[in-house]
Amino acid sequence: MASFALAFGTATKNKDGKIIEAFFPTPVLNPSESLVAALADIVSYQEGNEAFNVQANQCEAIASALSAADEQAAAAFAAKAASSSQPLVLVILASDEKPSSVSEGFLKLQLISQRLAKPHSIVLEGIFGLLHNIAWTNKGPIDLPELADRQIEARLAGESLTVDCVDKFPKMVDYVVPAGVRIADTSRVRLGAHVGEGTTVMHEGFINFNAGTEGVSMVEGRISAGVMVGNGSDIGGGASIMGTLSGGGQLVISIGENSLLGANAGLGFPLGDRCTIESGLYVTAGTKVTMLDSSGAEVETVKARDLAGKPDLLFRRNSVTGKIECLTNKSAVELNAELHANN
Ligand SMILES: CC(C)(COP(=O)(O)OP(=O)(O)OC[C@H]1O[C@@H](n2cnc3c(N)ncnc32)[C@H](O)[C@@H]1OP(=O)(O)O)[C@@H](O)C(=O)NCCC(=O)NCCS
Repeated sequence: MASFALAFGTATKNKDGKIIEAFFPTPVLNPSESLVAALADIVSYQEGNEAFNVQANQCEAIASALSAADEQAAAAFAAKAASSSQPLVLVILASDEKPSSVSEGFLKLQLISQRLAKPHSIVLEGIFGLLHNIAWTNKGPIDLPELADRQIEARLAGESLTVDCVDKFPKMVDYVVPAGVRIADTSRVRLGAHVGEGTTVMHEGFINFNAGTEGVSMVEGRISAGVMVGNGSDIGGGASIMGTLSGGGQLVISIGENSLLGANAGLGFPLGDRCTIESGLYVTAGTKVTMLDSSGAEVETVKARDLAGKPDLLFRRNSVTGKIECLTNKSAVELNAELHANN
């Protein structure tokens, strides 16, 4: 039977022996039946979606199974893991369902950040409730209830424990740096972000999990959970894209190709290709927009959500009348090639 994915990795456990985090450098999508069968023999897997604790003495057999399936990177990792003292975990997913374990959740986030899966293409429902709130420190992930004791132990040993952040999601770059990206402030990109080849994320930029860019983009504003930005589009400094997690919004917001969200602008509906939103203008789905014809005459008033996905539009707030207007965008953005040349 066909399987969805599998991965072998290291894990971190809390004092109760529960896995709170897992690192999968070499996941395999749509593994062959023979690979699944070979691994099933090693960990006694039968069916469904499962995460197995792996012992060091099982690594060699796992490496051989991966190697026989021509998954050489994964095989090399499994061979090295034989001498690791870290907890080891093997996840086998028969199908793409709601994640049911921390390991499965971390695997899915890594599938997206490693660009093996696009945001929205895999099921992440319930992941927020599944993941622990963790202190991500220079000594590794620490389950929050254990942090105070660990801080005291570290100080008594003359060491310091640096806490980078307290969050369910770690920063992406501690797991993977996909090819061809620049990220000025790495804490601004969460694991589960999809950072397209040729994307630059400047200090003000932010990318949440299950969100990101398809290809070349300059990100200087915030890409909220669930939002995908098309190739060649720019998110201007301080710009905001409404997410779908809070506030009850059901509309999945996206940006097409070669569009520009101006500095300090905001977007609350799916924007099409070659569109521009004027700097400082926030257009929500319900915003009433006056359509102008090529001579600048008013034609009709529509809600922004009715313009979802339509190409070649320029949105601006008329600085004389205060009305939000939409006209044909004559100059689609040309990304500044020099800014992207260093990826
Ligand atoms: C909205 C925007 C795209 C308009 O730029 P543009 O197409 O180059 O337009 P111009 O400024 O040349 O103006 C064209 C005409 O429209 C008028 N105009 C521009 N914005 C207007 C507004 N908000 N209200 C009324 N008229 C406006 C201009 O006065 C000008 O009139 P004219 O033909 O009588 O001379 C631009 O102002 C903008 O906000 N760009 C975003 C840039 C950005 O934020 N980049 C990211 C950086 S981090």
